[in-house]
Amino acid sequence: MHFASDNWAGASEPIMQALSRHSTGFAPAYGEGDLCDAIEARFQDLFETDCAVYIVATGTAANALALSAVTGPGGTVFCHQDAHIRVDECGAPEFLTSGARMWGLEGRHGKLSPATILSGLEQVPHGVVHHGQPNAISLSQSTESGTIYSLDEIKALTTVAHDNKLAVHMDGARFANALVSLNATPAEMTWKAGVDILSFGATKNGAWCAEAVVIFNKDYAKDFIYRRKRAGHLFSKMRFSAAQFEGYFENDHWLENARHANSMAAKLVAGLQDSNTTRSAWASEANEVFAIVPKSSAQKASASGANFHQWPTNGLHPDDQPNDDEYLIRLVCSFSTSQEEVDQFLALIKS
Ligand SMILES: Cc1ncc(COP(=O)(O)O)c(C=O)c1O
Repeated sequence: MHFASDNWAGASEPIMQALSRHSTGFAPAYGEGDLCDAIEARFQDLFETDCAVYIVATGTAANALALSAVTGPGGTVFCHQDAHIRVDECGAPEFLTSGARMWGLEGRHGKLSPATILSGLEQVPHGVVHHGQPNAISLSQSTESGTIYSLDEIKALTTVAHDNKLAVHMDGARFANALVSLNATPAEMTWKAGVDILSFGATKNGAWCAEAVVIFNKDYAKDFIYRRKRAGHLFSKMRFSAAQFEGYFENDHWLENARHANSMAAKLVAGLQDSNTTRSAWASEANEVFAIVPKSSAQKASASGANFHQWPTNGLHPDDQPNDDEYLIRLVCSFSTSQEEVDQFLALIKS
């Protein structure tokens, strides 16, 4: 029963097959072969635009490099206070942006709003040299709380950002999960809604290790090849990263994986609701479920081999808080979560 994170799952079969397909013979190094060109074209086709695509190995590298392209000296990036870029990347964004601050803003269920962006701009206004310069906003889709921004919410955020000369970065570590949940196209969820630069994640959704920075506003693509090389993310055998994307996109495999993960999360939610003792802490909109469960049940499930994380409650809205005898836990489903695992877990947690 593996619900600790979607990156605990292995790599899915079509991706492994693509890796094997490209494992023999010779091909130009450093992303110069036909396969890498084909993958860039595939991204352009999927996003219906002439975007620039830079493959990297981790979501942290994608985020930090993307933010380095949209910030300047003394830069500030407005993000949610729980954003991965602010909390979980060991200062990589600050390091690669030469010290831009990841300015955390409040928002229920992991979401920013136009009002919170404006409150950020009151704290770090344009034109005050001592405060540095506000450069960008970063939103995670899906969010760190398992919620998603609707297309209208994205547009509202990007409008306030652009009106205030801020670039828009999207952390799409779970891009596919959000996309299938919204039933939107990649273009609708990004550049058509005003996103300038995207960290496109595949690792959590069945790849072995494949992420990409996708740049819609080409002003930010200038020098990006040097940023990536300098950060050590220009692989000599880039064909293996590209091969993962080949398998990922083939026959809409990526969407199928995400739909499966989301549907398993929905089954978890339904099962939790169907009990007097457990409940969802808030609406789960993609593949992550935040649940409130009795401490004794969580301990029992854990002792019986279920993997999940107990989640911190500091900063939660009072209505979302567990009682003293309850825990808030996070359950993440992946392309390889099975119905049996879900049933087994629910039986344990509800008993
Ligand atoms: C929202 C979000 N962004 C980025 C990342 C970064 O991924 P990586 O661990 O590959 O650096 C993660 C990983 O957990 C994440 O959850």
